[in-house]
Amino acid sequence: MKRISDVVYILRSYAKISLLTRLFIVIRYLVCPWDIILSYLRESGKVLDFGTGHGLLLNLALQRFPKLHCTGIDHDQRKVEAASKSTTRENLTFISTDEIGRLVPASFDFVIIVDVLYSVPTDRWHEILSLVSTYLKPEGIIVVKETVDTPRWKYYICWLQEIIAIRVLKYTKGDSPQIMPVDYYLKQLAANRFVVEEHSRIDSGYLWPHYIFMGKKVD
Ligand SMILES: C[S@@+](CC[C@H](N)C(=O)[O-])C[C@H]1O[C@@H](n2cnc3c(N)ncnc32)[C@H](O)[C@@H]1O
Repeated sequence: MKRISDVVYILRSYAKISLLTRLFIVIRYLVCPWDIILSYLRESGKVLDFGTGHGLLLNLALQRFPKLHCTGIDHDQRKVEAASKSTTRENLTFISTDEIGRLVPASFDFVIIVDVLYSVPTDRWHEILSLVSTYLKPEGIIVVKETVDTPRWKYYICWLQEIIAIRVLKYTKGDSPQIMPVDYYLKQLAANRFVVEEHSRIDSGYLWPHYIFMGKKVD
């Protein structure tokens, strides 16, 4: 459910960045089922948000679970700077992928990846999944939320929007969208030693084919 109080919280958190970017973040809040993604977190622990963008997920996470320790990482320096302006909390840090050496291996309870893999060529997914696995504790939880290729009418809406975002407006850095079938995600997660415990459609009430996977790292 979308809440006015969340929109007010977002506008306040991002008060130091441009109005246009703030509006973009509010729209991002409206089009993605954040409550379902956040329901996989716990009251405490360490969370790594890979491909954090403007850091919306982590700001929403800390609004609900203030004791979490959260780190967002992204390769787009402009987004990392904007995300950093959204917080003065000690338990929320945003870093660029160049600074990944600051993270301690096997120290995170949760790794979350939201709408990142689709923007990366599929032959590079292994790089990302094995990298995040390095930072997860044994038995740590991975949550991947992406868009999939069914239902087809939602897929076409999603594909068109992503082409505009990546190629025309250039507000997402990446290649052509890779909107893959559910089975492809399951195989990639298994190939990177994650046991998928739950996966389901989470697109009810949205125009986009949102889908979530939750798994555990096995050694
Ligand atoms: C569509 S945005 C999603 C941002 C955020 N997760 C959200 O849901 O609002 C995709 C993000 O992934 C980041 N990204 C893509 N490939 C990446 C990589 N190899 N390493 C780090 N960040 C990456 C992009 O810079 C972008 O911020």
